[in-house]
Amino acid sequence: MANKQEMLLMALAVKQGLIQKEQVQECMDLQAALQEQKGMTLPLLQIALKKKYLTEEQASNLGGGAVDVPGIGDHVSVQDANRISIFDVHKEIGQGGMATVFLATHKASHRKCALKILFPKHTKNAKFVERFIREGKLLKEFECESIAKGYEYGKAGKENPLYFMSMEYIDGPSIQDLLDRDGPFDEQKAIYVITEAARALAYMQERGVVHRDVKPDNIMWASDGRVMLVDLGFATMIRKDLAGQYEDETCGTVQYISPEQAKGMADLDIRADIYSLGATLYHMVVGELPFSGKDSMEVMAKQVMEGLNQHTLKGGKISVHMHYFIEKMMSKERDFRYQTAREVVDDITEVLEGAADLQYNPAADANSPFQFNLGGDPHASQRITKVGHSTGKFQPISGQSSGRMKPDGSSVRLPGQSTRSGGSNSTSIRKPVTAGGSNTSGVRKPLSKPGTSVRLPGKSKKLPPIKKPGDSQRG
Ligand SMILES: Nc1ncnc2c1ncn2[C@@H]1O[C@H](COP(=O)(O)OP(=O)(O)O)[C@@H](O)[C@H]1O
Ligand SMILES: [Mg+2]
Repeated sequence: MANKQEMLLMALAVKQGLIQKEQVQECMDLQAALQEQKGMTLPLLQIALKKKYLTEEQASNLGGGAVDVPGIGDHVSVQDANRISIFDVHKEIGQGGMATVFLATHKASHRKCALKILFPKHTKNAKFVERFIREGKLLKEFECESIAKGYEYGKAGKENPLYFMSMEYIDGPSIQDLLDRDGPFDEQKAIYVITEAARALAYMQERGVVHRDVKPDNIMWASDGRVMLVDLGFATMIRKDLAGQYEDETCGTVQYISPEQAKGMADLDIRADIYSLGATLYHMVVGELPFSGKDSMEVMAKQVMEGLNQHTLKGGKISVHMHYFIEKMMSKERDFRYQTAREVVDDITEVLEGAADLQYNPAADANSPFQFNLGGDPHASQRITKVGHSTGKFQPISGQSSGRMKPDGSSVRLPGQSTRSGGSNSTSIRKPVTAGGSNTSGVRKPLSKPGTSVRLPGKSKKLPPIKKPGDSQRG
């Protein structure tokens, strides 16, 4: 059955003389038949497109272009991309929730680049355009080895313009690609990725910017061993002055979103990204999402209220080190997380060297499958110095701490590389706070299968229980 919104759009199309009433009827009949006979739910507009009663352009312009119809205007073809005349566009290399990304060459400089083009359906949405341009600007300003260098950005064409930005091309898969292809990461690789991504966050934090959409899709692993944070589309300035306020929209991807983002809190800071990084680490080593549910609201509610599955975390699937890092990053209460991205790097580095005190005491955990070399140190019951080999889990990586790791696990050493090679050589890293809040000691529900990531730039994502009385945003 056609829904109200698509009927309104069709009525509009008829009124504008784009389509005949009879053709609309035919599309509706077809829609009903597809639903009944094949269980397929196709949007009416998509059917009208297939029947060539409307062009894609006409369809995406209906309703002032503000209507989000799945399958319409949410992809850019190579042919369309080539309308941006300063580039030679070769092939599509990626697609996210907002844009299609191509491998291209900047004609004037012959520079190879990744060309990101905003979906046409978003070009009439001022907010999305603004965010896109902001991303282009940030990438151009930033000078960080773990963030693709930005080159050109702008708008091409007067009618049906395309918004684009070009940046350094990253020749490697995203962490999501690797998860899809190979399943869970071994812990050593996962920790390398997380530490490197934390360096990119540290860079952003130093500039007062929060990413807001850290997830496996937005972390890439280049063949030179660099782990790169991409997609600064939701990146924004940290605003302490917004404390206590709520936003009229929630940014991020529900499966990785921090509790404070899920609540719609406006004064987000780097600790929200640290939570998402923890959720990413969870996904990487456990092979499942930390929380799943039948819809976004349920997942977001769990981010706010439900503890992590202790059976999964303590059941031998991951090492105690990993358990500790995940619990610390994914603490519901942001005061109990690492307070800075540097602390993440610092603490992980220390733990790798066997020097950190961990609040989680494996010796006291009857279910722990690991062997610990506790020695004669009076503090040894708090300190993990070694994890048994037979677990296939975490091992100290100090031996490679001055080099990079490639996605295949082999190490890379770059000539002239100094400031941000992996491991413990970063300067001015602050000592970590003692391990805080394992806040997740309640009853756990079994995890279900990983779901697809959904980006929610709309309005209806506030969790009703968290909204303040009198708050104007709707839930
Ligand atoms: N600089 C780049 N080099 C190579 N591939 C990239 C680059 N930036 C993004 N991609 C690929 O394109 C995908 C979508 O890009 P992203 O910036 O995340 O877009 P969106 O904002 O739509 O999510 C990424 O998940 C990644 O696979
Ligand atoms: Mg993305």
